[in-house]
Amino acid sequence: METVKTESNQNPIEETIFGEMPDGTKVKKFTLKNEAGMEVDIINYGGIMTRWTAPDKKGNYEDVVLGFDSLEQYLDGSPYFGALIGRYGNRIANGKFSLDGETYTLATNDGDNHLHGGEKGFDKVVWDGVAKTTEEGATVELTYTSEDGEEGYPGKLDVKVTYTLTNNNELDIQYEAVTDKPTVVNLTQHSYFNLSGQLSEPVLDHEIYLNADTYMPVDGGLIPTGEFREVAGTPFNFKEPKPIGEEIEAANEQLSLGGGYDHCWVLNEGEKDFRLAASAHHGETGRLLEVYTNEPGIQFYSGNFLDGTLPAKDGGTYAKRSGFCLETQHYPDSPNQADFPSVRLNPGEMYSSRTMYKLSTK
Ligand code: BGC
Repeated sequence: METVKTESNQNPIEETIFGEMPDGTKVKKFTLKNEAGMEVDIINYGGIMTRWTAPDKKGNYEDVVLGFDSLEQYLDGSPYFGALIGRYGNRIANGKFSLDGETYTLATNDGDNHLHGGEKGFDKVVWDGVAKTTEEGATVELTYTSEDGEEGYPGKLDVKVTYTLTNNNELDIQYEAVTDKPTVVNLTQHSYFNLSGQLSEPVLDHEIYLNADTYMPVDGGLIPTGEFREVAGTPFNFKEPKPIGEEIEAANEQLSLGGGYDHCWVLNEGEKDFRLAASAHHGETGRLLEVYTNEPGIQFYSGNFLDGTLPAKDGGTYAKRSGFCLETQHYPDSPNQADFPSVRLNPGEMYSSRTMYKLSTK
């Protein structure tokens, strides 16, 4: 295995080969490190974060994200473990939307609906990757050009995603995109977290906080109905931290439709655009994850579709609800819902989105 050390003073970025695509293209793995001892592995296939080591309250470092050991396992079928999602995070109803009078047809890869960019979304393409050390920390810059018409979307889209691991144990993710025709864009990151370090064990004991007074009820295909519903007095209230498992089995129509939590929460506006959206705390290890973003929504998915069949990195298998996702995003199905904030991108404009995951202990 090749190892290249990138020029840097304190935070060397290791570049190795993670695997080979069926056509022979080599997939790189970038290991970002910081002064505290944290490490993040990012591969340029799907921009996937395959590993993130974080200390518990005693200083023991463990991996806190679900994923696989080999590229083959990702190619065999992954529920978007750790991946970049595009062009559209979450669902578009019936795989159709209209823009300027023209109707676009997308893959219906989730029942009747379109999910996470289609058959071959940004999670399944090989990005160009360049490692850099900046003042902020160890960085990998991923770029990808999605051709006009790819997966049915209009416009050639040039995308850049920059991951930076800071010395404050933050993983800062900056998304940028430009298009040559009007189009829709909604990018996110699909990491499944398990802060216990026991990656194949359920996460029901993690306490979640969501900075949201309302959430979006869904229909049977998990498409928002268009209603913004108050969380107060419902199992969807995470305004005070609460274990995932506390009410997940409550008799509630929305929990039945999602098979647990699989909804978009409408984030409260902070003092500034970039604000705390969510946190997750694992009491036993003390690990705390905080999520900051400038996006209007967050999809809290409690790993309901994991079913104990996929091989875990720790040798077990990923049990139902052994990871949770906190995906910052615009609302699902926005191209078809006139009352939702717009996801339209015009030529000459810059799509720009930022999310920061921060790990500490408490
Ligand atoms: C969606 C789930 C979906 C999962 C795929 C989440 O973002 O909300 O419904 O099953 O991604 O792993």
